[in-house]
Amino acid sequence: MTLSIIPFDAPLGAEIQGVDLAAPMTPGLAKDLRAAMAKHLVLVFREQRLSALSYAAAMRSAFGALVPHILDQYHHEDTHDVSVISNVVEGGKSRTTKAPAGAYWHSDLSYMAGPSDATFLYALEVPSDGGDTVFADMVRAYETLPESLKRAIEGRSAIHHMFGGKRGYEAKVTLTPEQAARIPEVVHPIVRVHPVDGRRALFVNPGFTRGIVGMEPAESDDLLHALYAHATRPEFQYAHKWRVGDVVGGDNRATIHTASGGYTEPRTLYRAIVGCGAPVAGARAA
Ligand code: SIN
Repeated sequence: MTLSIIPFDAPLGAEIQGVDLAAPMTPGLAKDLRAAMAKHLVLVFREQRLSALSYAAAMRSAFGALVPHILDQYHHEDTHDVSVISNVVEGGKSRTTKAPAGAYWHSDLSYMAGPSDATFLYALEVPSDGGDTVFADMVRAYETLPESLKRAIEGRSAIHHMFGGKRGYEAKVTLTPEQAARIPEVVHPIVRVHPVDGRRALFVNPGFTRGIVGMEPAESDDLLHALYAHATRPEFQYAHKWRVGDVVGGDNRATIHTASGGYTEPRTLYRAIVGCGAPVAGARAA
């Protein structure tokens, strides 16, 4: 099969055709997929047939080391590199949280000292309607920021924490003392430089950003609100409508994403997160 990359008629995203993720990954294909991710920021692979283990192996060999999510209660029983995101109740216990997991704009694990590179989701069960995952392009958001906002964030950093943001849903999980100890507040530049192509992206998100370093809370809240209002404009978004067998990856260095509700039918995704190896590269002077 030959690799084809079909950009979406959307601000970001491309469909990858001609790739069977269950087949062994060649170094050449992995290089092409990583380049496609940096360019298009969201990649969609259709009609995949994977186990948790073969999914993890494919993501690892194409995109790099996987990071077990801190919420280990949702790890797949076969591998801690995959978390189960689901509303399906088994044995009287839901495999995820009560409200849809991730239903607030965020970049996965931005609260880690070395945040993630990318998140992948693999659909096992999808509702007939609703439950889209929506991505927003933070490169375009940065590039189109009004000059006054660019000046306001130039050289500044923000504090991130798993329960740090103004997400609309309150924290839906209670951490064990061991989990809480692993995620102290961290500080990252507000503008993240993409390590592959040097593009600058906004790197704050309503889910996990607690405030801007050196600003009073009210001033910080106002500035973050203005950044989020700009970054989540529809013209920067791609909404993925799920089909069973889809694998969808989003580049967390340059996008934020949110789950959406509006369904009651079963929805089960396997999530794999890549990266967390290096601190964020900060913005150069403009
Ligand atoms: C996530 O943000 O990790 C999950 C997104 C989704 O379920 O659509």
